[in-house]
Amino acid sequence: MRAIITGATGGYGSALCRQAKLSGYDVVAVSKSPDKLQSLVQCGLADEVFALDYLAEGLDANLTNFESFLQGRGLTKIDLLINNAGIGSKQHSLFDESADELRRAFEVNCIGPGQLIRRMAASFSLATVVNISSRRGSVAQNADEQVSKLGCSYTYRISKSALNMLSLCIADELGDRLLSYTVHPGRLRSGIGVQGAELSADDSAVRLFQLIAARPDPSLFYSLEHEQVQTLPW
Ligand SMILES: NC(=O)c1ccc[n+]([C@@H]2O[C@H](COP(=O)([O-])OP(=O)(O)OC[C@H]3O[C@@H](n4cnc5c(N)ncnc54)[C@H](OP(=O)(O)O)[C@@H]3O)[C@@H](O)[C@H]2O)c1
Repeated sequence: MRAIITGATGGYGSALCRQAKLSGYDVVAVSKSPDKLQSLVQCGLADEVFALDYLAEGLDANLTNFESFLQGRGLTKIDLLINNAGIGSKQHSLFDESADELRRAFEVNCIGPGQLIRRMAASFSLATVVNISSRRGSVAQNADEQVSKLGCSYTYRISKSALNMLSLCIADELGDRLLSYTVHPGRLRSGIGVQGAELSADDSAVRLFQLIAARPDPSLFYSLEHEQVQTLPW
């Protein structure tokens, strides 16, 4: 079994690599920092690594290189693609977030993941896609005063909401040949997590691989915040 994990060098990404290895996958770790990727190999958390920066010039050409890299290793099937790379922002106000910041958030949180799925589904037999979203991408929660008043970046909420729609569009178009899941990992103690979070990246990663193995309904938005998997409103 082969898994491609983006954002593999981050707090959640390295936990996902660890859990993928424990679940028997060969792991292709993808991220933007070559040095950090090499340390994943040294720690035994990745079998292959590929540096891909969604903000670098020439996304199409870079994705073509990634395809060639995988084909060069004789790969025809990808059992699991986890789109986990993501960026946040500490700003909470419309007046603090520039158009460039919004563009960057779209590139990393939605456009890059979408183009990666497109290439992988076109060139390989792709079985399961997991898009790591956030509860902050829920339009319905932002319409709920109790949740919406907690404060969170516009760029993060808008781009994660777009990722959710992308994930559903893929399930809609390609649902007869692959499973496409949308998952909030929970508020994690690591990475871009918030203060006061109690869930470890490792525990969330265990829950994610249990979810994948259970092959639940792709039309729902899953949350791993609690021991029992829950669903969030879109
Ligand atoms: N932590 C939480 O509480 C929480 C809650 C809800 C959702 N999430 C989601 O979970 C995912 C992982 O979050 P995390 O907490 O592990 O964050 P993190 O530690 O900051 O990791 C982010 C990962 O994305 C990669 N990345 C950043 N910019 C990139 C770019 N331009 N091109 C390609 N890769 C890029 C980073 O690479 P480098 O290491 O090279 O910088 C890193 O591997 C994100 O999608 C996040 O939105 C997290």
